[in-house]
Amino acid sequence: MKPDLSKQPEQVASMFDRVSPNYERMNNVMTLGSHVYWRAETRHALGAREGERILDVAAGTGTMSAQFAADGAHVTALDFSAGMLAEAKRRHGDNRRIEFVQGDATQLPFEDSTFDATTVSFGIRNVQEPITALKEMHRVTRPGGRILVCEFSRPVNALASRFYDSWNSYVIPTLARIASTDPEAYEYLDQSIDAWADQRTFASWLREAGYTEVKYRNLSFGIVALHRGRVPASK
Ligand SMILES: C[S@@+](CC[C@H](N)C(=O)[O-])C[C@H]1O[C@@H](n2cnc3c(N)ncnc32)[C@H](O)[C@@H]1O
Repeated sequence: MKPDLSKQPEQVASMFDRVSPNYERMNNVMTLGSHVYWRAETRHALGAREGERILDVAAGTGTMSAQFAADGAHVTALDFSAGMLAEAKRRHGDNRRIEFVQGDATQLPFEDSTFDATTVSFGIRNVQEPITALKEMHRVTRPGGRILVCEFSRPVNALASRFYDSWNSYVIPTLARIASTDPEAYEYLDQSIDAWADQRTFASWLREAGYTEVKYRNLSFGIVALHRGRVPASK
């Protein structure tokens, strides 16, 4: 059963379990490789440093976790889908800088102030209660630490918007029928992107969750946005 916009956690997790073996291949197909650029920008924006403790929430198959680990950080890759975590371990299980944890973004299994930074890429849109997850990420980040969120967002001009709408409504379902073992999952992808918060709304959620210095930067004309914020020095 595919999830709907109520984003029931069991349905979301089970959809990701099903797509996990083909997730990386489908990302390449569906974004025509653009995700490589979005990920490079995310890595650069987080700026992980040697020895830092980073929490990668909704880490999926661990692609971003591995990039932060390559910058010298110790990364905790958390996800609630056993299938996605199994794929992450298959790909990066021998990386001693990455620890894999099964858990829910809205109830993080960590003490307060455990991490220097938390991050989530293409994950927060799938969380039923995103502001609760942002608050949890705030709780487990040390005072003065940072958050970085990479997510699909709202194109900033009419041309990009038309291209993006047609891509999501027509091209993705067609590609999904041809290349995916679970085409329904990609109907959810289109719907969840359509219904998602725009840049300003998401920035307001970050402030509501307690972050300061909230800023965002558009990638690919706003198809994706990188949001950042800081946990105040005294919580
Ligand atoms: C589109 S994938 C993104 C994976 C990865 N971050 C990436 O950049 O490729 C979304 C991931 O979010 C996870 N997810 C969704 N809701 C979650 C929640 N409440 N707690 C933990 N993981 C969640 C899913 O299991 C899935 O692996």
